Amino acid sequence: TIRAIIFDLDGVLTDTAWYHYRAWKALADELAVPFTEQDNEQLKGVDRLNSLRWIAHKGGLVLSAAEEERLMAQKNAHYLELIQHMSPADLYPGVQPLFAAIKAKGWKIGLASASKNAAFVLDRLGIAADFDYVADANQVKNSKPDPEVFLLAAAGLGVVPAHCIGVEDAVAGIEAICAAGMRPVGIGEPALLAQASLVVPQIAALSIAQLQALA
Ligand code: BG6
Ligand code: MG
Repeated sequence: TIRAIIFDLDGVLTDTAWYHYRAWKALADELAVPFTEQDNEQLKGVDRLNSLRWIAHKGGLVLSAAEEERLMAQKNAHYLELIQHMSPADLYPGVQPLFAAIKAKGWKIGLASASKNAAFVLDRLGIAADFDYVADANQVKNSKPDPEVFLLAAAGLGVVPAHCIGVEDAVAGIEAICAAGMRPVGIGEPALLAQASLVVPQIAALSIAQLQALA
């Protein structure tokens, strides 16, 4: 039985994964660390501090705590600049009908995001009120692939993990869903998201019938 669908935000409901990439890329360029879109696949779903540390490690850089703080603030300021004009028009096609179909089934809708900016983005997209519970990076200690944020979302929804489906575009996110004991749905490349039970190229291609079939 399915009782809840728990969504990732960045790259699943809207194209913020691209803006995160642009902002990390600018920072890596400044640090003279080579950073490609392929590298970025490893960072999708990973929180701010661990992403910075991944880039620093790639460049053989050792950062002090103060430098980490400064660079994270710089990346976030750039990211906020990139997303400041976001509006409901930036919601991916297919999200609204999918949410309506989920509600019609009586299933709950949750969010499990690694971003500290999740509430701001939901607000900009005009979908904050659609969620029965929102879990984000402000409430958890352990970043995806740790299951903490998905488990928190399930607990907040009052649904046991076995009755939840998680929807993710990140390798780390699919791992987190599996570790949480939920059924994983991937958005993106099947080859990259091989652990997922079902992979669709974008959320518009995900139907309620496909979700129901995972029960
Ligand atoms: C994740 C994104 O959702 O949030 C990552 O996939 C991003 O790309 C991470 O780095 C942290 O986001 P923020 O907004 O807290 O810096
Ligand atoms: Mg994502």
